Amino acid sequence: MRGQGMHDNVPCQSISSHFYMSPSSSLKIAVLPGDGIGPEVMDASLTVLEAAGALHGLTFSLDHQLVGGAAIDTKGKALPADTLAACEAADAILFGSVGGPKWESLPPNEQPERGALLPLRKHFGLFANLRPSICYPALTVSSPVRPDLVEGGFDVLCVRELTGGLYFGQPKSRTTLPDGDIEVVDTMIYKKSEIVRIGHVAFKAAQLRSKHVTSVDKANVLTNSVLWRETMVEVAKEYPDISLAHLYVDNAAMQLIKAPRSFDVLVTENLFGDILSDEMAMITGSLGMLASASLGKPKGDGLYFGLFEPSGGTAPDIAGKGIANPIAQILSSALMLRFSFGQEAAAQSIEKAVRKAIDDGFRTGDIFTDGPGVQRVNTVEMATAIKARLA
Ligand code: IPM
Ligand code: MG
Repeated sequence: MRGQGMHDNVPCQSISSHFYMSPSSSLKIAVLPGDGIGPEVMDASLTVLEAAGALHGLTFSLDHQLVGGAAIDTKGKALPADTLAACEAADAILFGSVGGPKWESLPPNEQPERGALLPLRKHFGLFANLRPSICYPALTVSSPVRPDLVEGGFDVLCVRELTGGLYFGQPKSRTTLPDGDIEVVDTMIYKKSEIVRIGHVAFKAAQLRSKHVTSVDKANVLTNSVLWRETMVEVAKEYPDISLAHLYVDNAAMQLIKAPRSFDVLVTENLFGDILSDEMAMITGSLGMLASASLGKPKGDGLYFGLFEPSGGTAPDIAGKGIANPIAQILSSALMLRFSFGQEAAAQSIEKAVRKAIDDGFRTGDIFTDGPGVQRVNTVEMATAIKARLA
């Protein structure tokens, strides 16, 4: 809960126009809105998805299911068997967000995040998390970063390893010691093969972008990071056209604010990626703008089973008010069209419509700054403005 073919590889969002996939005819989607602002941004995004589908001759079969706190309240479990079965029967999962104060006192493993989202990622082997952090030129005024540092906007792709590291390593424990003190353990584990496969994702993405990868680690302290760095250097040898730089994570956090335009593709492990991707979203203007695709191995037809979700959380403070920014959810459905269905044209029409709506001055509260031609809108109005600009 927060505010707003060679290897087993996945391409990235910005290589779209170079990566043609065979169109899919059965567009089966498990729709899991979840909690907080999840349902309202999901509803708004589905109107845009349906409209884009109509323009491009696509029909969707949507299977709505409960997940997270909403599922705990109704079915006693964050990830009920019916929900998992619906995801298994679908070609993609469109996910809202899960969590909220109401479920925070449950045992950790039963809470919405650890009881539903993380198991879904693990169950489907969704190891590659792509988070395109795009600051539109018209939105640089919404960025908290000094205007001269973001002038003209920027486009950084965060490639986050999603099924390893501290999130999943065993053992995890909490023990009360004989002297009454409490000891907790989380385990950080990576296999070299896991680093290799995410490395390839990042380098392939960079090949179709600006050909620069920044690998982020903490190799001055962590054994995990030493292997991470060695492995990235090794993988890089297969990509002589790509330049590779390494940054310690603390320095990366600083450089992202100081010089966001100097990044192209950033690749990092699970927890560092979680933290840095929020920062990357915020410097574009708002967490409400950050879409994501979590992909597994290619299915063999150029398409990927994936889970597509905004990265921003359930924003309980504004949930139910109809004012949340639906753009991250809308852009997540564009990523789904691209990666799970091979519908590049439909994906691009959504992305272009979002950009036009921004250029035409439509702003939800999170990205609003007063000025000429700028109009404050709510969730539904933003989706309507985007729908009206689909071409
Ligand atoms: C994200 C979220 C999740 C994560 C939470 C909700 C478990 O913050 O997708 O970035 O930490 O991965
Ligand atoms: Mg996060």
